[in-house]
Amino acid sequence: MASFLKSLLVAGGAGFIGSHLSAALVENFDCDKLFIVDNLVTGSVDNIGDLIGSEKVEFIEGDIVELDKLSLETIKFSHILNFASIASPKTYAEKSIETLQTGSLGVFNLLDLAKSSGARFIHASTSEIYGDPMVHPQIETYYGNVNSVGPRSMYDEAKRFGEATVTAYHSKFGLSYALVRIFNTYGPKMGQNDGRVIPNFVNAALNNLDLEVYGDGLQTRSLCYVSDLVSGILKLTQSEFCGPINLGNPSEITVIDLAKKIIKSLDSTSKIIHLEGLADDPRQRCPDITLAKKVLNWEPEISFETGLLKTSEYFKLINSGAD
Ligand SMILES: NC(=O)c1ccc[n+]([C@@H]2O[C@H](COP(=O)([O-])OP(=O)(O)OC[C@H]3O[C@@H](n4cnc5c(N)ncnc54)[C@H](O)[C@@H]3O)[C@@H](O)[C@H]2O)c1
Repeated sequence: MASFLKSLLVAGGAGFIGSHLSAALVENFDCDKLFIVDNLVTGSVDNIGDLIGSEKVEFIEGDIVELDKLSLETIKFSHILNFASIASPKTYAEKSIETLQTGSLGVFNLLDLAKSSGARFIHASTSEIYGDPMVHPQIETYYGNVNSVGPRSMYDEAKRFGEATVTAYHSKFGLSYALVRIFNTYGPKMGQNDGRVIPNFVNAALNNLDLEVYGDGLQTRSLCYVSDLVSGILKLTQSEFCGPINLGNPSEITVIDLAKKIIKSLDSTSKIIHLEGLADDPRQRCPDITLAKKVLNWEPEISFETGLLKTSEYFKLINSGAD
């Protein structure tokens, strides 16, 4: 494989966030070549169909756990962005070992590549590292409240381990890095059946089916539209900031109010039904974004109404069988 002047690597680039991020990097970032590595466990080439046609972009189907098979070591990367990880609770529970391997062995492999290239490393972490938080809203200095043997532990602990691994490469080898603690993000290209709250509620409402709320529905979420998240990640990639940083939308809503809002906005006849609450489901989730405002001059701009409209348009197309 040829070596380029300025090459970027996005792992997990065929997924929901990774595909939006890759498109934004091609458009806004000074680079000669963008490599996308994805094993397609939850992603799809359809998400990057437009990009694959560009001579600036090369898609490599492969697993970061077996990165040595992909012959990337001859390329000098300026930035490596790791968005490879199963993120849907339904899927990571089914594929618990793969999730843990991706968040451990896979992260080591990408870090070694970053180390040999001298690349800046941007790692997708998550608000889940705060677990069911005892501090509200969640600030980067909060250590979290995570059950290491609970039903979400394969994801939460993989992400916590990933943060520790990236931090160790910084301390030991001087790697430039940022840990993006992403709070619930939604938008077009989310997997229709991936089990996360927005695809669940929007698809049910579009089909006039019951919206299933776990427990009393008084648990809160803070929902960030994907273009807002991506603009924060672009700023972070271009910055020299090192450390963990929250990116998310601080407008908090209860799950029951979210369900009502979606039914009303989509003019649906769906009803809300309550299912038994989930173990270790966080009661409150809201980012403190003071740090992102200060170091990146970033905050979300897209209203929930606008984001919901764009997302529902996407799922309408998918439901109708069109591309
Ligand atoms: N969407 C959110 O609300 C959210 C919140 C917090 C953190 N995150 C993090 O952001 C990243 C992207 O999440 P997403 O919502 O786009 O999920 P996604 O499932 O749509 O994307 C993940 C991508 O990673 C790929 N992948 C998984 N394991 C891999 C491996 N071993 N090798 C190569 N590719 C692999 C998948 O095929 C998929 O394309 C993940 O790290 C996730 O943990 C997302």
